[in-house]
Amino acid sequence: MSTQPPPISDQPVLKLLNVESAYGPIKAIRGVSLQVRRGEIATVLGSNGAGKTTILKTISGIIDPRKGSVEFKGEDITAKDPAYIVQEGLSHVPEGREVFPLLSVRDNLLMGAYTRSDRDGVAKDIETVYGYFPILKERASQDAGLLSGGQQQMLAISRALMADPDLILLDEPSLGLSPKLTKEIFEIVVRINRERGTTILLVEQNANMALNASDYGYVLENGRIVMEDTCAHLREKDDIKEFYLGMKETGVRGERRWKKKKTWR
Ligand SMILES: Nc1ncnc2c1ncn2[C@@H]1O[C@H](COP(=O)(O)OP(=O)(O)OP(=O)(O)O)[C@@H](O)[C@H]1O
Ligand SMILES: [Mg+2]
Repeated sequence: MSTQPPPISDQPVLKLLNVESAYGPIKAIRGVSLQVRRGEIATVLGSNGAGKTTILKTISGIIDPRKGSVEFKGEDITAKDPAYIVQEGLSHVPEGREVFPLLSVRDNLLMGAYTRSDRDGVAKDIETVYGYFPILKERASQDAGLLSGGQQQMLAISRALMADPDLILLDEPSLGLSPKLTKEIFEIVVRINRERGTTILLVEQNANMALNASDYGYVLENGRIVMEDTCAHLREKDDIKEFYLGMKETGVRGERRWKKKKTWR
């Protein structure tokens, strides 16, 4: 596709300031501050347990933070009800591609549009997502539980799109998918961003895919942001190459060097 992407604005659509969230005594994120500008794809990279999912759950209101604030389109949405946050234009594609298994593919899509009253717009958007993922059209009347893992991920992303959101939170779309399918899904995510201007915050362990697809990136370790930059810059950084792109040997010495280079306060 050679469509001209909408310009990325300097205005942040999402702003987290010193957010801290915990599960009982376990602090999962500790003072996370980040911004997502309107029109961009931003990514948070981090390994297992770094706190990626917790960041997204805190943004979409599933978890209330202990400290800090979340601002969406200039409004303080800290600890607001998840249903309210969806209504405001923020859709969350959760980890593990949750779909309603006993509903048809089409009914899953319609569930995603429950906040909308523009029936013509909904019908048009169903056709749009069928255009992105033609397999969903083929399987439209089949139960979603019968789809493969990759097809369920397509459905989960499509369902989020059906709310016609300003911002989509995407939790590890590559999880459990083949490299080929992962690549296909990332290509569509980029297309959605370029063609619809939908802002996307993507969290991923697959640094290679995420850094290629995104404009701006944050690196999360043990619940803290330790580095941020444009993805073009992050791709060139030695410690990113070494620890997230697997381009050098890792190990005890590598760990030590990484710790020395950590930029957090
Ligand atoms: N429901 C929970 N109860 C207690 N601890 C939790 C819960 N969910 C997550 N944690 C802990 O919080 C920390 C961050 O977890 P989180 O799920 O946010 O990480 P993640 O970066 O999404 O990891 P992954 O890549 O494995 O999905 C981890 O130490 C995890 O064990
Ligand atoms: Mg996670």
